[in-house]
Amino acid sequence: MDSVSSLLGSIEDVGRDPSRGGYSRPVFSTAELDLRSWFQQEAGRRGLEVETDRNGILWAWWDPARSGNEAHDGDSRRGALVTGSHLDSVPGGGAFDGPLGVASALAAVDLLKARGVTPHRALAVAVFPEEEGSRFGVACLGSRLLTGGIDADAARNLKDADGVTFAEAARAHGLDPAHLGRDDEALGRIGDFVELHVEQGRGLIDLKAPIAVGTSIIGHGRWKLTITGQGNHAGTTLMEDRADPMVAAAQVVLAIRKTAAATPEARATVGRIQPVPGGTNVIASRVDLWIDVRHPDDATTAALVESIHGQAQKAAAFEGCTAALTQESVSGTVTFDAELQRQLQLALPGAPALPTGAGHDAGILAAHGPSAMLYVRNPTGISHSPEEHVEPDDADLGAAALADVLERLL
Ligand code: GLV
Ligand code: MN
Ligand code: MN
Ligand code: MN
Repeated sequence: MDSVSSLLGSIEDVGRDPSRGGYSRPVFSTAELDLRSWFQQEAGRRGLEVETDRNGILWAWWDPARSGNEAHDGDSRRGALVTGSHLDSVPGGGAFDGPLGVASALAAVDLLKARGVTPHRALAVAVFPEEEGSRFGVACLGSRLLTGGIDADAARNLKDADGVTFAEAARAHGLDPAHLGRDDEALGRIGDFVELHVEQGRGLIDLKAPIAVGTSIIGHGRWKLTITGQGNHAGTTLMEDRADPMVAAAQVVLAIRKTAAATPEARATVGRIQPVPGGTNVIASRVDLWIDVRHPDDATTAALVESIHGQAQKAAAFEGCTAALTQESVSGTVTFDAELQRQLQLALPGAPALPTGAGHDAGILAAHGPSAMLYVRNPTGISHSPEEHVEPDDADLGAAALADVLERLL
């Protein structure tokens, strides 16, 4: 039986990013593919049957109805209990966001087997691709495809920073782009979904507890703002003759900060900005900004985005530029299934309840069936950063808690 730390230790060198620090494991990169192979091996070592579905989601099955050589009907996996998370990362991310949930699921299977548990229904460990949206821009792309939460054509046409489409990347990874999209058979297999995840803020530090039961995910979305001006020479263009989209972008960043700070509970971030063509002695012709906006009230999120858009148009016009906003993805606030939350609370007496500002595949799946989350304490309170951390003892407490929950639900 492996501890969660030893499982994570076996992948600690995969996808390290010395220039950013931490890990960069974008979907279908060598690093993410290595992690998928690692998962397949670890699942195989445990006697789980691994399959890849048509959206690139990995499923590792513990399905007593299919053990042995007896003929099986295809329905033994309908309504299964599913746990798992993702293996891709943000650029320069930590070691735990995603892999902790996958490693804990494997460790929980070990614990259940050691306890002599025989599942009364099939159990699967799932790994969802492109949860972070760090390569193709849409967070939770795998679970959105599975549930039909994104149009398959729109997904096929998503492009990464090098202009590679998701369809091309999927094909290179052995998937048939024509078969991407809502998968009712796979969806029908998810009876209940429980995702364990590193806590990504200071919630559990403040609560002085190692584990919490998730209650909700605040609504969030991503927008791309394109500011277009006049590309020109940095030395010959007089200051009064410029239409510099970078100057307008700077105003927009400040306006976003001010607007969100004035709205209780709002969070808004410009984490990525790209001048085109991007030369020190070149006034940019265009600047793209990616804006992440979150609020528990979906109408407030929409109002914030509208306000940001208006301020961006004003700032752009003042600089002789234009601004255009497009939505990349949006997820409304999700409250996890009340009965499943109750079952988790019963399995983990005394565990506090905790909402989160971070998005997860569990939030996408919640629209299709009972879905729940467990969080494990992060002593730094920092995430999407190399400084994200989980103590080995807390990681093992997390796996044991997940095993308790799964045992209760099986
Ligand atoms: C995913 O981690 C997100 O909340 O952006
Ligand atoms: Mn995550
Ligand atoms: Mn993340
Ligand atoms: Mn020159």
